[in-house]
Amino acid sequence: MTSQLRTRVLTGITTTGTPHLGNYVGAIRPTVNASRDSQTDGFYFLADYHALIKCDEPARIQRSTLEIAASWIASGLDPEKVTFYRQSDIPEIPELTWLLTCVTGKGLLNRAHAYKAAVDKNSAAGHDPDSDVTAGLFMYPVLMGADILMFKAHKVPVGRDQIQHIEMARDMASSFNHLYGEQFVLPEAVIEESVALLPGLDGRKMSKSYDNTIPLFAPAAQMRKQIAGIVTDSKAPGEPKSTEGSALFQIYQAFASAEESAAMAKAYADGIGWGDAKQMLFERIDREIAPMREHYQALIHNPSQMDKILLAGADKARALATPFMRELRHAVGLRALSSGATPQATKEAKAAVASFKQYREKDGQFYFKLVNALGKTLLQSLGFSSPKDAGQAIGRLQTDGWAALPDVKPLLEPWDSSQEPELAAALAEITASKKTD
Ligand code: TRP
Repeated sequence: MTSQLRTRVLTGITTTGTPHLGNYVGAIRPTVNASRDSQTDGFYFLADYHALIKCDEPARIQRSTLEIAASWIASGLDPEKVTFYRQSDIPEIPELTWLLTCVTGKGLLNRAHAYKAAVDKNSAAGHDPDSDVTAGLFMYPVLMGADILMFKAHKVPVGRDQIQHIEMARDMASSFNHLYGEQFVLPEAVIEESVALLPGLDGRKMSKSYDNTIPLFAPAAQMRKQIAGIVTDSKAPGEPKSTEGSALFQIYQAFASAEESAAMAKAYADGIGWGDAKQMLFERIDREIAPMREHYQALIHNPSQMDKILLAGADKARALATPFMRELRHAVGLRALSSGATPQATKEAKAAVASFKQYREKDGQFYFKLVNALGKTLLQSLGFSSPKDAGQAIGRLQTDGWAALPDVKPLLEPWDSSQEPELAAALAEITASKKTD
């Protein structure tokens, strides 16, 4: 099959911390809900190779992996329905990272935000620009590209800070496709606009780096105590309070229905005391979390069961990664020395027909061309602003062949009419091979 009918959604979670309510509201809950959509195939993984870039404490990496895996499952992710795995259980990922490394411009990586920020900070402090910067940090986007491209993900839900990485993965995919034929799907970032940014205890965004988080599965007593520590103004009970800028109210909203939130807003206006409001917030959160907390505890206390779940996920993932990696190795020339010279190389013979190459030029536009087995160009497209449009034009030519030419013609450079017989034959071959795939 060359065409995947279902949309593949993939995202990774770096295993360096303990999940908190902000992670739950911003990532876990929306992703688990989305994973129930039967029109999509979900790939969710623990990015533990990425964690090594940020953390050199083995026990913390291991603990965080267990906690994050247990949190996702306890929050309703169904490992039977989706592919849920640990990045480091897939040896094809670092293997693909190398192939991508070889088609990625060093200049592209120089421009990655995280690397640039480290360099700018060093320069401002008068240090060597690369002081304390590991090659791992520099290579972060390539490893992430391998995560995404390996599974031909169409959509990658991420935070805003990760958009640049998805764009880089697209660049890597186009470069590779240009050099070695259509192998990779060009992924798109998905930013969940409607998801609330949860404030933390001090009112700033809830984040490990501000040390203002409420752990998702802390025991109920601890959660109640932490909620009691959320900053408020000093208005006394009976005084009307404003929901605007109230961290407590925002957190409440992230868990409550519209009616519940309206009732809370009314209670604010009526002068509810902060102690009572905090109690209401605790009860509302606990109503959602308590049933999952038990499941979480059971999983945390049974790490070998968690190992089993993750290894079963890795098996599913590798059922795709292993054969794909074989094709990719073949495509770049890492292949049996006898292959191509033997009659059983029919697959290769098939690959030697004309094919479409999709690529991006320095002008930032996306292009494609149809080349024959010897690399001679039979059709050349004009520039497209989006690779999707280029892909659609290719799709038309692949399914309808010569018959699609009148429609697609405005998107193409004029072709050499003396080549038309070869062009017609090449298009016929491609449409025929599409049908038998
Ligand atoms: N870099 C991502 C983050 O910090 C985690 C990640 C690693 C990821 N590989 C990925 C996300 C692939 C999406 C797809 O959030």
